Amino acid sequence: MDVDIGNALASAASPGVPRSYLDRLDARVADAHERIERGMADGEFGYAALNLPERVDTGAIRDAVAPLDGAEAVLTVGIGGSALGAATLTDALDTEGEAYYLDNVDPAQVSDLLDDLDLESTAVNVVSRSGTTAETLANFLVVRDAYEARDVDWTERTLVTTGESGNLRDLADEHDLPVLPVPEGVPGRFSALSTVGLAPAAILGVDVETVVEGARRERESLAGSLYETPAYAYGAIAYALDARGANANVAMPYHESLETYAEWYAQLHAESLGKDGLGQTPVRALGATDQHSQLQLYRAGPNDKLVTFVRARDGPDVPIPEADLDGLDYLADSTLGGLRDAEFEATEASLADVGLPNVRVTIDRVDAASVGGLLYGMEAAVVLAGELYDVETFTQPAVEWGKEVARDLLRGADALDEKETLRVTRE
Ligand code: PA5
Repeated sequence: MDVDIGNALASAASPGVPRSYLDRLDARVADAHERIERGMADGEFGYAALNLPERVDTGAIRDAVAPLDGAEAVLTVGIGGSALGAATLTDALDTEGEAYYLDNVDPAQVSDLLDDLDLESTAVNVVSRSGTTAETLANFLVVRDAYEARDVDWTERTLVTTGESGNLRDLADEHDLPVLPVPEGVPGRFSALSTVGLAPAAILGVDVETVVEGARRERESLAGSLYETPAYAYGAIAYALDARGANANVAMPYHESLETYAEWYAQLHAESLGKDGLGQTPVRALGATDQHSQLQLYRAGPNDKLVTFVRARDGPDVPIPEADLDGLDYLADSTLGGLRDAEFEATEASLADVGLPNVRVTIDRVDAASVGGLLYGMEAAVVLAGELYDVETFTQPAVEWGKEVARDLLRGADALDEKETLRVTRE
């Protein structure tokens, strides 16, 4: 991936980051890089995720998913980091069959989806690193029940990806289900390039070896300077802008198929960096659609954000047919891709014009290699930012707190203090 931070630097029009500050920050980037490389070499928790391009065994993934060959759809049951990496890959890349995800425990959505699915031809992929996440276990029990109610053998169609212990591991052992391990040292939100993210893509015919190869090429670009490493340039500029009041970080891809990428990035960023009173609030947007909603705020509202565009240099295109109408001559000989590019350039220029910091991340195409590189690059960017913030990038105590309290509430414990509420009801 290429990262252009020109529109995030201070200039006559923009209060962005002064070049002299970036030069000084680069010494800290060099130290952080050493720390990251050390963590990777020692296989330390979290840093180990950046070793995945060399370590992930795609052959073992292919062997594990082979019994599910022929499935016309894959239903992944998992939440947060156990689903978003896989969903990013299957939404971005061409698949031979449909990918469905059950993460939320919304009764209407779960029952509608199960009613609509042809369970005979649907493989179930259950993923939980801890093996104890209530939403995932509950959804899986409901899915299992639906298979049984329709007399379809779920044990022949289910793949489990989990850690060494936990309720999900016990369930898999009890029913002799095939299990893929979540690799040691890899937190959920950094697991897109492991068994967790790659297995559903592999079932659906995605070239996962090329995804990993793209990530490996990005890994090779990690060096001790933000001026040499696109991922570090992005992590460092986001950090530096946050310190200058850019409280929000808007992820705005200009490809419909990367909409889920923005969701993945929002989780990676929020759960890794939102600690000790620090961290930008990630916002998900989509170009060109959100030019017609959020852009008004970005250009004319408070200058308190960084907008990160993601776009591909090349891709499929559709010519715009000629219209015999006065006033539409500007569309003559154009394409939908050309129009989208013009919309993007207009948005970028409109933000630069008012000094709203923005960064352009460019990949070659929305294909297996480039998406693998993008995921790896953004993970490295967040790890670097975590070093600069000096936070515990790889833990998520606030998320764990919520999981614990929800379980306690279900057990009937009085886990929450009585809270005073202010309810306003329409007469
Ligand atoms: O990144 C994380 O650690 C979390 O988002 C987890 O992935 C999420 O809470 C699901 O956890 P688990 O995989 O243990 O079910």
